[in-house]
Amino acid sequence: MINLKNRSLVSITDYSKEEILRVLGIAEDFEKDQRQKLLTNHVIASLFFEPSTRTRLSFESAVQYMGGSIVGFASADTSSVRKGESLKDTILTVSNYSDLIVMRNPLDGSARFASEVSPVPIINAGDGANQHPTQCLLDLYSIRKTQGTLENIHIALVGDLKYGRTVHSLVQALSLFNATFHLVSPESLKLPSAVKKWIKDAGLEYHQYTELNDIIQLVDIIYMTRIQGERFPDPLEYEKVKNSYILENSMLESSKNTMRILHPLPRVNEISEDVDDNPKAYYYQQAKNGVYVRQALIAAILGLKS
Ligand code: CP
Repeated sequence: MINLKNRSLVSITDYSKEEILRVLGIAEDFEKDQRQKLLTNHVIASLFFEPSTRTRLSFESAVQYMGGSIVGFASADTSSVRKGESLKDTILTVSNYSDLIVMRNPLDGSARFASEVSPVPIINAGDGANQHPTQCLLDLYSIRKTQGTLENIHIALVGDLKYGRTVHSLVQALSLFNATFHLVSPESLKLPSAVKKWIKDAGLEYHQYTELNDIIQLVDIIYMTRIQGERFPDPLEYEKVKNSYILENSMLESSKNTMRILHPLPRVNEISEDVDDNPKAYYYQQAKNGVYVRQALIAAILGLKS
């Protein structure tokens, strides 16, 4: 029996394969009928200590489509954190005002800490370079929608595999679905060993490359990522790698007809704008899918859908 009621989502590994598939199934239900007014008696808190466009606004949109109310802040600058208030006190206070807390914070592990002190469930909207599990759910939704399955996918993960939290969550999740991973990054931004271990422990294959052109014709999904300049301790190191990969339309000629390009966004320059009109570009629809998935997750955690 799958029951996500009152379950925080901090890491994608908190949910089993069956639980992940259940959330995706509920998201399909919201895609068919987005305005299900399930939240009319609920308040959701949205605490963003770090910038966001898609995650914050798609959560807000999800709550409002369901008739709920949302409180919170979009920057730590407008909260009492600026006066020195601790994360624990912030969470305990906000839990008095809401049924569920969505939080993004620049510190790895902060969401786990919040879930341990909070009396209401926590949804991790990104903690440092660690995890971004709701992005992962919408990535899975997008892969299944475009490929018809999540099983046996060949995926190229391209760019900043070291600091890219969306990649870490996605590798862990796709390790449940017999994926083959093609890891394309500069030497200095390889996937961390702890995340590669998930692939090995699942008995799956990964291949590492430094050139993007080597794999374009092989894969079902190209998952481009931004080089995460804000997480580099040394700005000079960022300057060396910031333009490592730029996907251009002409590079896609040899790709499979069914191949789709995903990107968690924001994009800086890693996908040329001439790709946007190619039917293989799926990243704007991917961001739209985030609303359905976040509606599903909120409804499941509040026990309103199972
Ligand atoms: N994909 C993602 O997390 O985007 P935002 O930083 O705009 O929320």
